[in-house]
Amino acid sequence: MPYSIREYKAEDEEGVVALWNLCLPRDEITLNTFRRKVILDPNFNARGCFVAGARKTIVGFLLSLSRRYPYFDVGLEHGRGWITVLFVHPEWRRRGIADGMVEKAEFFLAQEGVKEIHISDYTPNYFIPGVDLDAYADGHQFLRARGYQKLQNVYSMGRSLVDFNIPDDMKDRFRQLEIAGFSVDVFHPPYTLRLLEFLRKNYPGDLFRVALERLKENPECDEILVALKEEEIIGFSHFMDERFGPFGIDEAYGGRGLGPMLYYHTVEQMRKKGKHNLWLAWTTGRAKDFYHKVGLKVLRRHEIMKKNLD
Ligand SMILES: CC(C)(COP(=O)(O)OP(=O)(O)OC[C@H]1O[C@@H](n2cnc3c(N)ncnc32)[C@H](O)[C@@H]1OP(=O)(O)O)[C@@H](O)C(=O)NCCC(=O)NCCS
Repeated sequence: MPYSIREYKAEDEEGVVALWNLCLPRDEITLNTFRRKVILDPNFNARGCFVAGARKTIVGFLLSLSRRYPYFDVGLEHGRGWITVLFVHPEWRRRGIADGMVEKAEFFLAQEGVKEIHISDYTPNYFIPGVDLDAYADGHQFLRARGYQKLQNVYSMGRSLVDFNIPDDMKDRFRQLEIAGFSVDVFHPPYTLRLLEFLRKNYPGDLFRVALERLKENPECDEILVALKEEEIIGFSHFMDERFGPFGIDEAYGGRGLGPMLYYHTVEQMRKKGKHNLWLAWTTGRAKDFYHKVGLKVLRRHEIMKKNLD
C-alpha cells in the first residue's frame, strides 16, 4: 500500500500523539506536552518535522531541529542539529518509511548548516536522552544501519527513599568538611544573585536555565540547595517532584566529598517534602558510579548517537 512523506501540519497533532504512544510505550506523552515541547519550542520548524501518511492515517513521525535562537550562554551551537524522536507504526515497518524520513531530515539539517546530527542530547526539550537500548532496540539497529554511531552511554537511575538514611561514615566526612568551612543550605532568596553568577560561570547551559526558571516561578523555591565555602556558592542541586537534578559542583572543589554532601542534604529535603522515590533522567561516567554507591539502580540504558554529514 502506498505512503507519502510530507511536512507536519497543524491538524496532525492528535494523530501524531496517538501513534507516539503506540510506538514509544516507555515515553508516553499528552497532547499538552506535545504542544509545549514540540510546537512551542522556539526552534521548531515544520520544514524539519515529517509525517508519513497512508490514506488519511499517520503511520510515521520524525522531529529534527537546529537552533534558531541562542540557548543561554551555550548559544546557537553552530553546525549541530538533532533528531529528537522518530517512529513508524508497527504494521508499516521495514518498508523504508523511516529511511525516507531520515533522508529528508538530513537534507533539511544540511541546508541549515548542520555538520553533525545528534540523537538526542537536545536541551531543554529532549524526550529520551539517546536511544533506549532495551525498549527501542529496533531504533538502535536502524540508526546504526544509517551510519549513526555511539557518542556516549547515559543512564536513568532511581531508588526508593523509604529506607533512606545517611551512613555514619558519611556523617563523619560531612563534619570534617564543615570544620574546613564547607556547608550545604536550602536555598533562600539572599542567595539568588550569587547562585545565578555561580551557574553562569560554571554551568551556563541547562543548570542556569533550570535555576532561572524555578526562581522566576517562585523566588523562595526550597527545591534548590546550595553548597558553600564560607559565603561563596560552589555547588547547586535541584529536584522537582521525585525527579532529582540537575546537580553541579565547581570543578575546582571536586574530589573532596562535596558531591555526596550536597546529594545527601538534597535527599533529606526531598524526604521532608514527602517524596517516596528518587529518580534521575540522565547520568554518565563517574557520576553514575557515585549514584550506584549511594544505592541508585539503573532504570534505563541509553546511547547518544552521532553522525557527521559530509
Ligand atoms: C526504528 C524504526 C523507526 C524503523 O522504521 P522502519 O520504517 O521500519 O525502517 P526502514 O524500513 O526505513 O528501515 C530501513 C533500513 O534500516 C535497517 N533497519 C530497520 N529496522 C531494523 C531492525 N529492526 N533491525 C535491523 N535493521 C533495521 C535495515 O537496513 C532497513 O533496510 P531493510 O528493511 O531493507 O533491511 C521503527 O522500527 C520504530 O518505530 N521503532 C520503535 C521506535 C524507535 O525505536 N524509535 C527510535 C528511538 S526514538
